[in-house]
Amino acid sequence: MEERVILGTERDFEAFAAAFSRRLHAGDVVALSGPLGSGKTAFVRAVVRCLHGADQSYSPTFTFWHRYEGTPAIDHIDLFRIDDPRESAELGLEEALDGSSIVLVEWWRNAPELVAERRYEIEIEGSGNGPRVVSVRRVT
Ligand SMILES: Nc1ncnc2c1ncn2[C@@H]1O[C@H](COP(=O)(O)OP(=O)(O)O)[C@@H](O)[C@H]1O
Ligand SMILES: [Mg+2]
Repeated sequence: MEERVILGTERDFEAFAAAFSRRLHAGDVVALSGPLGSGKTAFVRAVVRCLHGADQSYSPTFTFWHRYEGTPAIDHIDLFRIDDPRESAELGLEEALDGSSIVLVEWWRNAPELVAERRYEIEIEGSGNGPRVVSVRRVT
């Protein structure tokens, strides 16, 4: 199952992310890809805003991992700086990946073995103030 949408404005992009977030449950993993500046972090923020409400504060865990407390908790992991998959074993992400939270991972291909086999894959194309093309794929 794959869907692909063109989103002309940042507002459309955020609305799409918010609508998508309503499908998510604890234990779901969302693997985000797309170049720097494409909107992966913006997507995560829109998900958090939709599910938890505005002005969420996150607990400062590590620079590569922010946990937004709530029901369920949302873990935002960014593996941009991980260049050797072996490093990921040392990140201590077991808590994030124990199935009790929604997990969104940027640059997941830097440590693909961390990401559940059953996942949503979201690919974002586009940059700057231009439109974004977002593809969503359910992998099981
Ligand atoms: N149509 C759009 N959709 C998404 N983001 C947009 C759009 N237009 C401009 N932007 C901007 O693009 C930037 C995306 O940055 P960010 O989410 O940090 O990217 P990434 O995490 O992929 O590196 C944000 O500053 C956002 O405001
Ligand atoms: Mg980012």
